[in-house]
Amino acid sequence: ASWEKQVRHSSTPRRLNGFSVLVTGAAGFVGSHCSLALKKRGDGVLGLDNFNDYYDPSLKRARQNLLSKHQIFIVDGDLNDAALLTKLFDVVPFTHILHLAAQAGVRYAMQNPQSYVRSNIAGFVNLLEVAKAANPQPAIVWASSSSVYGLNTENPFSERDRTDQPASLYAATKKAGEEIAHTYNHIYGLSLTGLRFFTVYGPWGRPDMAYFFFTKDILQGKSIDIYKTHNQKEVARDFTYIDDVVKGCLGALDTAEKSTGSGGKKKGPAQLRVYNLGNTSPVPVGRLVSILEGLLGTKAKKHVITMPRNGDVPYTHANVTLAYKDFGYKPTTDLASGLRKFVKWYVNYYGIESKPSKATQRADESS
Ligand code: NAD
Ligand code: UGA
Repeated sequence: ASWEKQVRHSSTPRRLNGFSVLVTGAAGFVGSHCSLALKKRGDGVLGLDNFNDYYDPSLKRARQNLLSKHQIFIVDGDLNDAALLTKLFDVVPFTHILHLAAQAGVRYAMQNPQSYVRSNIAGFVNLLEVAKAANPQPAIVWASSSSVYGLNTENPFSERDRTDQPASLYAATKKAGEEIAHTYNHIYGLSLTGLRFFTVYGPWGRPDMAYFFFTKDILQGKSIDIYKTHNQKEVARDFTYIDDVVKGCLGALDTAEKSTGSGGKKKGPAQLRVYNLGNTSPVPVGRLVSILEGLLGTKAKKHVITMPRNGDVPYTHANVTLAYKDFGYKPTTDLASGLRKFVKWYVNYYGIESKPSKATQRADESS
């Protein structure tokens, strides 16, 4: 395979010192940022991604181009391809897996439920089967989600809170991932660390997320829906800036214990950990929109509606005490500063053409 040649001829994923990390979902939003950060600090990185078209594949290809400028190679393949994954482990003795590939998005689960089962359950199990059989077994850090808290009303959410009321199939598959991880840790001694990310945003973000399409729609003068809850409260999210999440992922990798088994045999207990990685300060969606209006210099056409029953939860809020205690996780970017960086990237990436103020200006000049 072409990737094999590339990988064999490059020293990148195989390191004498530092980690060798397989990053799944490396062409994705969080995966591309984490791959760059790992490479920058000297770890070996190899990516895996199937470049599916859930959202604009050209954005995934652009992230891939950015990574290839830093000598990070992404294998084009699927989590469910056991032969490919086994081959990857034959070529590179990975010390760690940072597993970020998944079918993300809560609302899309109503349109394509099977894609969640395929990637988040079957794909995860396939990866764990390959990791379990590898010798040495890699330590695994994987993305869970704040959505596992579902309709939980504790405030803020702590890792021990109930997670038995998922509001979407997405949340249910992420919760299933946590249960599946438990069994692989228990039986095979795999070291597993789950990270519950809270609505991550930033440059190179996901076009299916509200902050991203709100920016696009405001610039294009289209109206946006702002949800309020059934009891007329504002919907709020603990929006978390990408750089904070990247630091959390690296911290979790650094403190992951080694797996205790090898070649599928358990040798003793290894860790199973789950952490919240949030910002600790929920912001109502209306406030997100007013920050964007300020940054874009354009008023949004707001359409405030009662939240449809589409898998969304009314509120998220992380308690991150545990991640702070274990690997010093401390979010440092507030929503206004983070969105400023996102908007700067957005205008630069999509071009100034998308700014109606400039377009109008030009139209005025030529008339
Ligand atoms: P993303 O969609 O940008 O990245 C996921 C990547 O995985 C994509 O590039 C996709 O092509 C790839 N992928 C999907 N299914 C695959 C498969 N079967 N085989 C190989 N590749 C596959 O999403 P993201 O925002 O970077 O999210 C990363 C992880 O974090 C996901 O597990 C997601 O569920 C989780 N998460 C994200 C957020 C957030 O707000 N961004 C919040 C909570 C949890
Ligand atoms: C995000 C990601 O999309 C999920 O992949 C991830 O797992 C989840 O975070 C998480 O933290 O676990 P979500 O918080 O729903 O999910 O993010 P968005 O889809 O960007 O929505 C953000 C907020 O805007 C939500 O409160 C949502 O209800 C609201 N919204 C969304 C609107 O008000 N109007 C819309 O048209 C769409």
